[in-house]
Formats: sequence, structure tokens, C-alpha cells
Amino acid sequence: MGADIAIDLGTSRTRIYLENKGIMVDEPSVITVNHENDSIVAVGEEAYRMLGRTSERFSAIYPLSGGVISDLGLVEAMISTFLTRVTSARIGMPRAVACVPGEITEVEKRAVVNAISCCGIRRVCLIEEPVAAAIGAGIDISSPHGAFVADIGGGTTDMAVISLSGIAVSRSVKQAGNIMDDEIIKYVKRRYNMLIGKRMAEDAKKAIGCVVKGAAIGKYRIKGKSIVTGMPAWADMDAEEMIEPLRETADIIVGHIQDVLEETPPELIGDIHSDGITLTGGASQIAGLDKLISAATDLKVRIAENPADCVVNGCGDSLKYIDIIRRNDSMVSPITDRY
Ligand SMILES: Nc1ncnc2c1ncn2[C@@H]1O[C@H](COP(=O)(O)OP(=O)(O)OP(=O)(O)O)[C@@H](O)[C@H]1O
Ligand SMILES: [Mg+2]
Repeated sequence: MGADIAIDLGTSRTRIYLENKGIMVDEPSVITVNHENDSIVAVGEEAYRMLGRTSERFSAIYPLSGGVISDLGLVEAMISTFLTRVTSARIGMPRAVACVPGEITEVEKRAVVNAISCCGIRRVCLIEEPVAAAIGAGIDISSPHGAFVADIGGGTTDMAVISLSGIAVSRSVKQAGNIMDDEIIKYVKRRYNMLIGKRMAEDAKKAIGCVVKGAAIGKYRIKGKSIVTGMPAWADMDAEEMIEPLRETADIIVGHIQDVLEETPPELIGDIHSDGITLTGGASQIAGLDKLISAATDLKVRIAENPADCVVNGCGDSLKYIDIIRRNDSMVSPITDRY
């Protein structure tokens, strides 16, 4: 039998972890299709490079939106291409643990299971994203001790208070890195009369994005097209300017974190008061976001090591439960196979 695998089917990136090996795939969740014959032209990094650069015949598409599958056929094609990259040898018909955002519907969960099973995987278990994030951030989720985790990704921010391997309070909102990119595009249009693409906005955000004064320094040259002349144009954007397009999304995320804290039972709040909040997900790295959350909640805030990898590493760690849930249904396990 082949090794089991863990899959983090993210809105921005897909990560695949192979048992005993670690992360083997970490590529943009993008696929390029030729409309003339419905064939797949490119997947992952190569497809990402084509974003905004395709002709009428081709489109480069993100087949997930807000943490949810928006085009099932394309997601299947994407996963199956990535799986062929996991190992040159056939991996047999392995079992998989995949993560899903906290508040998606049963139908949406079923779609994730179907997309993965269609690629020849014989058993698919699911784990909720913030639980996987907590495990990947090194938190002992099985103890009767409350831990607050916020996973700030591309499509969603998933927040949860976790205790005894389960979720005590949670919330999932579609406010994360992608919305920040859209806000940068709108800002540049307003401020510089320039149109820029999504990739340029994302690159600028990663380079100089910040949400509080002084958290990032430097300039970034954004290149695009003048709205006035239609000609190529550029501008040197200063880090401090980033606060205007990014702050609103950050404030909304902070507000949701405060709401989750308000809904948390007193005993668990006591634990969170001593341990603080753990941030995971790529967008947790926006400069100053940790400070903003800390100031608003009066709690310590820690960004996990390699924050964007926490979810897939947590899914990988949970592979050990696949055999356990089969043997003992009453076992407290963070994964489920009831889809
Ligand atoms: N260094 C960085 N600074 C700021 N933002 C970053 C950085 N690195 C990645 N990001 C942003 O993080 C987001 C992707 O994070 P992640 O890989 O955790 O998302 P995902 O798992 O694909 O999405 P989701 O979990 O919402 O479905 C993107 O918006 C990306 O631009
Ligand atoms: Mg994610």
C-alpha cells in the first residue's frame, strides 16, 4: 500500500504532504484551460504565471473561491496533476486527510471529498482548518486547555477556540489576503490613475504590505497601465500608503476575533489570557497585523513558525488518526470520515 497523504486545498495555494516525507507540493491553486478543446494547458506555478496574460483561447482560473470549490471539474484536474508530482513512483491508492473551512455546508464538504476521491484515493477524512492549523502550530489540542487560533489565508480567515480536540467556539469569514489584493488594485486606480493586475497587487502586498504605521518600510515599484493614456505606467508606492487599502480588512478581522473571544466560556478565556492568540496562514505575515490584534484584545499574539504551512502539517500529523477512528468510534479524534 502507498503512503497516506494530507491535502490543504487552499483558495490561493494547494499543499500536499506525503506521510514520512513532509510537504511535497506547494503551488498556486491555479489551472489554465484551452477553451477550444477543453484541455488543461498548465497547473500550479506555470498556470499562475499566465494569470492576466492569457489570450481569448486560454483562461487561467482559481477554481476555489472563499475556501469553497467553485468549479469541481477543474479542482479534480488540478489535484490529479499535483498528485502525479508527489512521487514519481505510483503511490498506490492511498488514504487522505483534507482540511475544510469551519463553516462550509455539508454539500461543500462532500464536494471536497468527491474531488479527492475522483483522483483514485480510496478513503478521504476531513479535518476543520483551524484544528489542523493549531496542530501544525505545535499546540496540544487534546488537553482540556483552551487555545485560540486564527488562520488568515487567501480566501478565508478561520478563527477558533480549541479544547479537547474539538472546537468550542468558531467563526469563518471571507475576509483575508485576496480581498486585500482587490483593495490595493482599487487604491492604485484611485490614487495613481493606473490599472494593475492581481499578481502585481499581491507582490506589492507581500513586499511592503502593512496595517500600522512603521510596521513596514521601503518602496515598491508597481507597474500597470495608465487609465488616462492607456499606455504602460509605473509608480513607486510607499509602505505607509499600504495602510489605506489594507487597514479596513484588518479591522474587520480584528472585530471578528473580538466577537469570538466574547462568545468564549470563562474557563477557556482564562487559558487564552495566559497563552495568547496564535496566528497561522500566509496573510498573518502582513506587517503589523499581529500588533493590531494584540492592541485590540490586550492579549499576546504569536505568529506560528512557517505560518502558511501549519494547516497542511497539521493535516499530515492527523494521518495517525485514520487507523484509530476505524478501530474505536468513541475515540476523541479531530478527523472524521462520515462524508
Ligand atoms: N509574506 C507575506 N506577507 C503578506 N501576505 C502574504 C505573505 N505570504 C503570503 N501572503 C498571502 O497569504 C495568502 C495565502 O495564504 P495561505 O497560503 O495560507 O492561503 P490558502 O490556504 O490558499 O487560502 P484559504 O485558507 O483561505 O483557502 C495570500 O493572500 C498571499 O498573498
Ligand atoms: Mg488555508
